[in-house]
Amino acid sequence: MRAIAVDSLGADPDLRDDLPEPGYGPGDVVVGVRASSINPVDLSIVSGMLRMVAEYEFPVVLGRDFAGTVETAGDQVAGFEPGDLVYGYIPPWGPAVHAGSWAERIVLPAGQFAARVPAGIALEVAGAAPLVTITAIEAVDAVRLSPGQTVLVVGATGGVGSVAVQLAASAGATVIGPARPGDEAYLRDLGVSRVIDRDGDLAESLRGVDVDALIDLVSYTPDEFDAHAALIKPGGRAASALRAAGEGPGRINVSAAPTAESLQRVSALLTEGTVRIPIQQTHKLDDLAGVLGEFSASHKQGKHAVTLD
Ligand SMILES: NC(=O)c1ccc[n+]([C@@H]2O[C@H](COP(=O)([O-])OP(=O)(O)OC[C@H]3O[C@@H](n4cnc5c(N)ncnc54)[C@H](OP(=O)(O)O)[C@@H]3O)[C@@H](O)[C@H]2O)c1
Repeated sequence: MRAIAVDSLGADPDLRDDLPEPGYGPGDVVVGVRASSINPVDLSIVSGMLRMVAEYEFPVVLGRDFAGTVETAGDQVAGFEPGDLVYGYIPPWGPAVHAGSWAERIVLPAGQFAARVPAGIALEVAGAAPLVTITAIEAVDAVRLSPGQTVLVVGATGGVGSVAVQLAASAGATVIGPARPGDEAYLRDLGVSRVIDRDGDLAESLRGVDVDALIDLVSYTPDEFDAHAALIKPGGRAASALRAAGEGPGRINVSAAPTAESLQRVSALLTEGTVRIPIQQTHKLDDLAGVLGEFSASHKQGKHAVTLD
């Protein structure tokens, strides 16, 4: 089976064609993957960062999101059958860091990490949507926006941010995004009301603006997070997707979980058109190992999709 994998800590990701077909149990489905995407956690796995939370079992196949076709359903599987189009994501570890979706075939416990691809949604979109959309839902839910409130989304241009700003705008909030001047048209199109210079003095740019909430998708440390949280008004709510929010009233660390319920919410948002997934670039599985370095250094606007077709 072909897959993008790493063989040891510190090794570069490589396209392999000799990985064994995954075994499956009576409650599992085997999915032929047709689309996926790149997420920052893929690079964190390569760098060995996840050693802090789980063992690595090599070879480690990369990739989290997937969309594809059920090829086999175990005897005890209800609700999925061969031929169904499904999508979802594989958690980064479970219990070891080992399985991933940048592979021709994956095995999943049915109903846990997968849902049917909504009618009318392209597989490329379904394969890029799950992780960022579930994270954005968690973040926007956490800050409990009311119509007319103002939210600062730091990291608005990236995968999670591009969805979070759409959700915040559809909740009736005014969305402010620090970004580069060249991002203005992109962000306004997603519903951002005001773009401020991410490299300038944010406090100066926001002078006189009452900011009710913060969604921070870039701060890795509590100190960096605090600098952004200081921009919102006292009593405001501030969410981190990077566990940097610390403790305290109104501070929330959010984390994505690929449950059937969360995927249902993604399906509804895609179907009703509340959320669209901007795809900046699409890569073929065969080229992926070679583009990861470039991806890491590039400026992200939305998602980099992956196709296996
Ligand atoms: N907790 C969870 O369950 C969970 C789930 C998903 C993601 N995450 C994490 O959340 C973060 C965002 O994920 P993502 O998929 O959206 O990543 P992404 O696609 O790389 O997006 C990050 C965006 O933030 C921009 N940015 C970087 N520094 C900035 C700054 N100082 N001000 C304004 N914008 C800035 C980046 O621009 P450049 O491209 O120019 O750097 C990029 O557009 C990642 O660290 C990811 O690991 C956590």
